Amino acid sequence: MSETDRAAERAAAVADAMDDIAKIDAHGREHGGIDRAGLERIKERLLELAERDDLFSDEDFPPPDAPGASVSYRIAQNDDDELALYVQCVGDGTSAPPHEHRTWAVIVGMRGQELSRLYGPCAGRDEPDVQREVMVERGTGVAMLRDDVHSIHIEGAATNFHCYGLALERLTGRLFWHARSGQWQVYDDDSQIVEARPGRT
Ligand SMILES: [Fe+2]
Repeated sequence: MSETDRAAERAAAVADAMDDIAKIDAHGREHGGIDRAGLERIKERLLELAERDDLFSDEDFPPPDAPGASVSYRIAQNDDDELALYVQCVGDGTSAPPHEHRTWAVIVGMRGQELSRLYGPCAGRDEPDVQREVMVERGTGVAMLRDDVHSIHIEGAATNFHCYGLALERLTGRLFWHARSGQWQVYDDDSQIVEARPGRT
């Protein structure tokens, strides 16, 4: 498939998925906010999109060169900067401490392995306790409500979909667990965001 054909097919597949996800999200908002059942439906829809990993290759979404670095390619975002989908490529040895998102978040795997430790809603309180672990890889994912806390741990590189109920640049003031000081602090997420929406690059 030519690069142009692949881009057109990718744009159509992403638009279809985001139409479905927007409907699930809107239904949740009408009922006071999305619930875990709604998030599971979003996760299933993203897993379906991830089956087309030929449309999201390293060639089209180059991973970062530096170990421990990450880059988030923005492939969809609605007009209100609320619903956003990224292809996130992370380098070997990347990790993130326990943190919240201040919106719902769904992550599904495409290439590599990203261990996600889930702590439940605990930001701003005591030291977080791990409740369960999920290896995010092809065919699996995690879905979190706005107060849920998780940490990530990667050996080897990984490429995943990250979908949020609010665009990354609007996720300000969220907290992470700073183990050295034994305190929750404001999360300064320095991951690079690259515009990759059709017609905007
Ligand atoms: Fe996260």
